[in-house]
Amino acid sequence: MSEENKKIVFSGIQPTGGFTLGNYLGAIRNWGPLQNEYDCIYSIVDLHSLTVRQDPATLRRQIRESAAMLLACGVDPEKSILFIQGDVHQHAELSWILSCYTQFGELSRMTQFKDKSKKHPENVNGGLFTYPVLMAADILLYQTDLVPIGADQKQHLELSRDIAIRFNGIYGDVFTIPEGYFPKVAARIMSLQDPTAKMSKSDANENAKIMLTDDGDAIIRKFKRAVTDSGSEVRAADDKPGVTNLMSIYSAVTGKSFEEIEREFEGKGYGEFKIAVGESVRDTLMPIQEKYRTYLADKDQLNAVLKSGAEHASYIATKTLRKVRRKIGLD
Ligand code: TYM
Repeated sequence: MSEENKKIVFSGIQPTGGFTLGNYLGAIRNWGPLQNEYDCIYSIVDLHSLTVRQDPATLRRQIRESAAMLLACGVDPEKSILFIQGDVHQHAELSWILSCYTQFGELSRMTQFKDKSKKHPENVNGGLFTYPVLMAADILLYQTDLVPIGADQKQHLELSRDIAIRFNGIYGDVFTIPEGYFPKVAARIMSLQDPTAKMSKSDANENAKIMLTDDGDAIIRKFKRAVTDSGSEVRAADDKPGVTNLMSIYSAVTGKSFEEIEREFEGKGYGEFKIAVGESVRDTLMPIQEKYRTYLADKDQLNAVLKSGAEHASYIATKTLRKVRRKIGLD
């Protein structure tokens, strides 16, 4: 982190179940480049993962794997803070305080809460309901200016802003009001099997999602099987959600515009296009996987990065929390 007054970037990701191509293109891919311009803080949000029942040994392993993958994707601990949310207790404390400034009605309107409680009717716990407040605490603790996320987190970010504005309205300027930072393409990568649904790591159908650890053959196979639309033209359109999704992926990975892609595949069928998309994704992910294995193998380095990250994060978080406690009368 610099001593200059650079803007602050904060983002988080849940460690469970591995990362998908959606996570990568919608968010993580931007985390590296942002480090050159901003002071960046990135968190593995283990506490958020507890809203769904987890196996302890698996969770422990996946937290380390997530850290190694973020490093492999370009998060540089020399430039940024990388830490595990649960290692910095201030997140839970601010979350409780902010929950007293968040309305039941606001939380009830969160589409992710509605979707997830429908999906897991047997475990609609309090954490699932208050999850966006913890996310607000994550962001507001660091006086964050910019939050690089995919489109599915937009509603949660807006709630964080509303909470911060409300709090500042009562107590004066305590929190910076954060802005979202969304990629121009690929803010919402869809399932390869149902292009009307978001690509999600929890999808039971393996063919619906590309995991960052998938091997090259699996990547090509999944793209070959991707659901496309009627017709045979490679063209982005509302009535072609399957092809449009593949075009977004190809555009994000190759940097080509939709017009360039349409020209490249003029007169060629979906089959050829799908293989090209698969190959471009494979060629992007293979070098990341190699770095991932190297980072994962060096446990001491990984632990050192996370320990130092938590210390730095805690130092910054304490400053904000002290201010909050004083303002509301706890200190
Ligand atoms: P999570 O772990 O579900 O996802 C991590 C990031 O990946 C993005 N993403 C996608 N982007 C495009 N297409 C998709 N199919 C796709 N799926 C996921 C998400 O938008 C996200 O940016 N609550 C958050 C984690 C969090 C957080 C925070 C984020 C906790 N605290 C503070 C920012 C700031 C979550 O569950 O993301």
